[in-house]
Formats: sequence, C-alpha cells, structure tokens
Amino acid sequence: MARNVSHTCTACGASHKKWTGRCDACGAWNTIVAEAPLTAGPAKTGLGAAKGRQVPLTELSSAEAPPPRAGSGLAELDRVLGGGLVPASAVLVGGDPGIGKSTLLLQAAARFAQAGLSSIYVSGEEAGAQVRMRAQRLGLADAPVRLATETSLRDILTTLDAERPDLVVIDSIQTMWSDSVDSAPGSVAQVRAAAHELVGFAKRRGAAVILVGHVTKEGQIAGPRVVEHMVDCVLYFEGERGHQFRILRAVKNRFGPADEIGVFEMTDAGLDEVANPSALFLSERGEPAPGSVVFAGIEGTRPVLTEIQALVAPSALGTPRRTVVGVDGGRLSTILAVLEARCGIPFAGLDVFVNVAGGMRVSEPAADLAVAAALLSAREDAALPADTAVFGEISLSGALRPVGQTENRLKEARKLGFTSAIAPARSKLGAGQEMTVRQMPDLVGFVGDIFGAG
Ligand code: TYD
Ligand code: MG
Repeated sequence: MARNVSHTCTACGASHKKWTGRCDACGAWNTIVAEAPLTAGPAKTGLGAAKGRQVPLTELSSAEAPPPRAGSGLAELDRVLGGGLVPASAVLVGGDPGIGKSTLLLQAAARFAQAGLSSIYVSGEEAGAQVRMRAQRLGLADAPVRLATETSLRDILTTLDAERPDLVVIDSIQTMWSDSVDSAPGSVAQVRAAAHELVGFAKRRGAAVILVGHVTKEGQIAGPRVVEHMVDCVLYFEGERGHQFRILRAVKNRFGPADEIGVFEMTDAGLDEVANPSALFLSERGEPAPGSVVFAGIEGTRPVLTEIQALVAPSALGTPRRTVVGVDGGRLSTILAVLEARCGIPFAGLDVFVNVAGGMRVSEPAADLAVAAALLSAREDAALPADTAVFGEISLSGALRPVGQTENRLKEARKLGFTSAIAPARSKLGAGQEMTVRQMPDLVGFVGDIFGAG
C-alpha cells in the first residue's frame, strides 16, 4: 500500500483524501497541506478494535467546588483569565512576533514563582543567555523560575513529569518537535501533536500550562484551529507597533467571560499593568476638535472610554478611500450608507479615515453612533460639545437602538469628568449618574440636534 498521506486544512483542520486548492469544509483557499498520519498502522478505534475499558460515569448534580485559582501576580492577566490560573488547564497566548508575548509570560512566570509556586519556562526560540538578559532587564533575575531551552517534546515531558511544576510556559508551540510524528517542526501535525501532549500533561498532573502561539499574516494562530479547541483559554496579545499600549484579549475562556481585556503598557523595563485604561486612552486628547468623539464602550466586564477620530477630505480618486484602524471596515460602510440613505448626507467623492486612538480595537455595535458623530463632525468641521460621551447602535432604518450596560458606561464617563452623554432613546439609564443624558430616537434627529439640520 502506498504511504498513507492525508491532507489537512490549516484553517479549519478538516481532512481531505486529496489535495485541492480550496477547502470544501470552510471554503478557504490554499490552506490544504499534505501530512503523514498521526498514528501509523491499523486504526485503534472503531468497529473491530480492541475492547476498551469502561469509564466511570458521574452525576451532573454531584456538586464540585469551582476550580481553585492561583493568581499569576499580574492582575490584568488574572482578570483576562477570569480570576487567575486554573490548575490542570491549558492556555494559548497568541500574537504577532515582537508584540511582547515572551516578556509577558516571563513576568507572569517570575511573579508566580515569587509567590512560592514552582514554575518552569521552556524556550524553544531563544538561548538561555537571551532569556536571562530579558529577566535582568525586567528586574527579575533573582526570581526562582527554572529555565529550559529545549525543543524535543519527549525530553520536555520527561522533565516535567519528574519535576511536577505548578506552571509551565512553552515558548512557543511552533518550535516544539515530537519524534512520534514524521513531519517538520512547525507543521500542522507537529503543532497539533505537541499541543495534544502538553494539554494531556496539564490534565494529568494538575499543572497550568501556557502555550505561546505565533500568529500568521492572516491573523490566525499558525497551525490548525484544532489547537484552539484543545485548550481551555485562548488569549490574543495585540497592539499597534508604534504605540506602547498592549491589550490582552480573551477570545475563548472555559472558566470565565470571553471578550475580557487586560491592558498593559510596554516600558523600558517590561510590561506595566494599566488599571484605568480609560484615563490612559484619553490622556493624549487635547481641546475638543472636529472629528474627535469619545465613545463610552464596554470591554468584557469593564467600561472603557476611547477616542474615535475621523477625517473627511475631498478625494482625487475615482473610488474614494475608506481607511479604518481599530474599527470594522464593513461597519463603516454600513454607517456611511445609512447617513446617505436616511439622512441625505452623501460621502461620495470624499476620502474617509477613521481611527481609534491609542491602538485600541473596538468591535461593539454600540460604537456606531460615536463613529457616525465623528464622521459628521469631521465633514461639517464642527466639534461636538466638550465633555460629551457618545454610544448607541445604528440600525439600517436609521433608528438608534439602546445598548447593554448603559449605566456602567455613564458611570465611567462621569468618573472621567464627562458631564453629558448622547444615547439612544429608551436606554436604561439607572439612577444617580449626575449627567445630562440626551436620548435620541434616530439618526436624523441626532444630526438635526447636534449639527443643526446637517
Ligand atoms: P518579546 O517579548 O520578545 O515579543 P514576542 O515574544 O511576542 O515576540 O518583546 C519584544 C519587544 O518588546 C522588543 O521589540 C523589545 C520590546 N521590549 C521593551 O520595550 N521593553 C522590555 O522591557 C522588553 C523585555 C522588551
Ligand atoms: Mg518571543
């Protein structure tokens, strides 16, 4: 029989009998790669397989205490994890090269070790001297973290089984290499096998395992999506290169809320935690200017104020530019279409640029009204009244829809010195926020009220 090569989609993990240009399962192009099978020899499961062992079954009602947690020593990391590291769990931390993953996890491992728990940092990318140099720079040279520079999964697992640490950091999963799989390190099969073994170790020995994952140009953790399914938490470390802010975002969390964010600032001596992100994101804001609007948003469980900036200028191009940083391009198109169709304010022939200050990414529909306000303010060259925060979702009919957690948004705005807010009609304001809240039923009303008829 010919060598049993399977073909796997690197985007969704589906397997195919032969190579094709497009994955039938997820529709992605050029993502299918040939791979040797994970296990050689006859199938070990299915009909005719050897008899299995009967597994114990338990009642759903047998109340188990919530998982105990161990603080990592970094409050912002603990927040994103839902309250600390859970023993016997696996966390995947993804991010662009150079964003600060190794720095973050070395800091976490060191704090963890300083709290008296045993932690091991395995670097497959850097030499011991490099990691030590970073530790020195971070002022953590004396932390009792134990370091290994190794890529052989077999040796690492043997060491871990002997040492029984409480925390293991694997930097990175793409450099790990298992001799039971005959494909190159970094390939889908290798990444999957390594993740499988390391997650198995976490569950078996009750350790918390953190895997670092590289992100491809397309913004996915290199290797199949199945790695994301194997782990308990998936965190993305993001930020703009030119900014010092870094945001750790939970995209999946079996032990806490997803979409929670932790905010850090990259300094000369490592990552500093930012306890009050709103103040930081608004710190560079000067006098109220046309095109600048403060959006009262919610990230996870925490209200965060950000500045949305827009610039509208006559275009020299046949198809005017639509450039966005930090907000969704599709969402911008929708808002522009609603402004044109429902309010009669055209943006044809105008270049439009929208940016969220500080390198923050806003994905809430509640940002619609703030984006629209920034666009109108830029187009009319009129600044919004000072000390006004804005939020609300815009529907295709031009109506404004109330959004969740209105009370929290207003409270945060009040805390930062804002005295008035613009919100959709029928928002649940709650009591005692000591602010003037102007409630608008639709976008036409908003345009007339704020910008005098448009
Ligand atoms: P690093 O943690 O190596 O990133 P990753 O593991 O995600 O590839 O961080 C790399 C960048 O961070 C590098 O450009 C230097 C910068 N940095 C600081 O600004 N301050 C510091 O204290 C450290 C350790 C790194
Ligand atoms: Mg690194």
